[in-house]
Amino acid sequence: MSSSNKKLNFSTLSIHTAKPSSDANENSTPIFLNSGYKFKDSQQASALFKEEIPGLIYSRYGNPNVIEFEQKMCALEGMEAAFATSTGMGAITLAFSSFLKSGDHIVACRSLFGSSHQLITKILPRWGISYTYVDIEDIANWEKAITPNTKILFLETPSNPGLDLVDLEFVAGLTKEHKLLFMVDNCFASPYVQNPAKFGADVVVHSATKIIDGQGRAMGGVVLCSQQLFDDNIKFMARHTGPIISPFNAWLLSKSLETLAVRLDRQCDSSLEIANRLEKNNQVKMVKYPFLNSHPQYQVARKQMKKGGNLVTCELIGGIKRAIAFVDSLKMVTITANLGDSKTLITHPFLTTHAKLLPAERARVNITDELLRLSIGLEDVDDIWQDINQAIESTRV
Ligand SMILES: Cc1ncc(COP(=O)(O)O)c(C=O)c1O
Repeated sequence: MSSSNKKLNFSTLSIHTAKPSSDANENSTPIFLNSGYKFKDSQQASALFKEEIPGLIYSRYGNPNVIEFEQKMCALEGMEAAFATSTGMGAITLAFSSFLKSGDHIVACRSLFGSSHQLITKILPRWGISYTYVDIEDIANWEKAITPNTKILFLETPSNPGLDLVDLEFVAGLTKEHKLLFMVDNCFASPYVQNPAKFGADVVVHSATKIIDGQGRAMGGVVLCSQQLFDDNIKFMARHTGPIISPFNAWLLSKSLETLAVRLDRQCDSSLEIANRLEKNNQVKMVKYPFLNSHPQYQVARKQMKKGGNLVTCELIGGIKRAIAFVDSLKMVTITANLGDSKTLITHPFLTTHAKLLPAERARVNITDELLRLSIGLEDVDDIWQDINQAIESTRV
């Protein structure tokens, strides 16, 4: 894609950041299912391996479909370089293993996806990398957790599943002052809703499995950063440890990005509508959605998010028994641990994604026993509400 495309808007970039067509003049990128690439002669082979000239060498390093997906993600996040991985956890692991070594320290916001929590608290310490958790409500005191060997500050905003927010600009000020890498998991927002780099993030990671795929079909992830961070850190680790996404999944996810804006416009509008209807219902104890006036960090949401996203959390009156009865009474909304699908999904974190956390750990990240997380899909909003409402009515207390 030519650099003049930098002036184009999100939807156009999501479609036209594409591999130039081949001799066949195809109008949609085909799938490249090959492991190796031909070298013109020995001299070219040698120059490629010495990185004196650009070009494809071997599919563990790169592939046309993977490169298209990476370049599209760079265009949509406003970042210079990317590496696409087989899963979102693969992306987070690649970033940590590229930037950290034994003796280093991470400051991480405690409100994290379960596997990120396991990685930071159980896996990285095995390699001599320590961590300090900070609380999302206590941002004014995060600076106290920084030590001379702190290298990375890591967070999610909105957080999974609590939908708590962190002021990215504020944290970027802190990380710049202390010369730390500021790394953000942007999975819950997607590049359409929020671009952390605009507010000072150095590294952005995604689980592309979620909203980017958008239809519950493929696993994928991506790490994004500056060209310099990529060349000095990510490239070496990515090439030699083999976390690259498959060409098929990269092709699928690149195609999915073409519809991200239209899908999310509808999903965000429906989510706000569902959140409003839940808030008015007297069977509902709590609703959280970034673009609801009642969200404790509503001003932060308006500052850094374009829309509120497609996730809504709520608690019904009647405790955990009622929560279970409600979930089991839903007829169209499906019970899964996934999110960001075209289908509306519900998750009960206490019983599933966050079941392995100790009760005190769950309490510190605002996960009550009855908290429910809705991932609003692309169905007609009235049909989504009808299903939610019939489950509220049939379990009324
Ligand atoms: C916020 C967040 N980050 C990372 C991941 C991990 O992504 P994946 O399942 O693609 O490895 C998830 C998965 O749910 C997530 O919700």
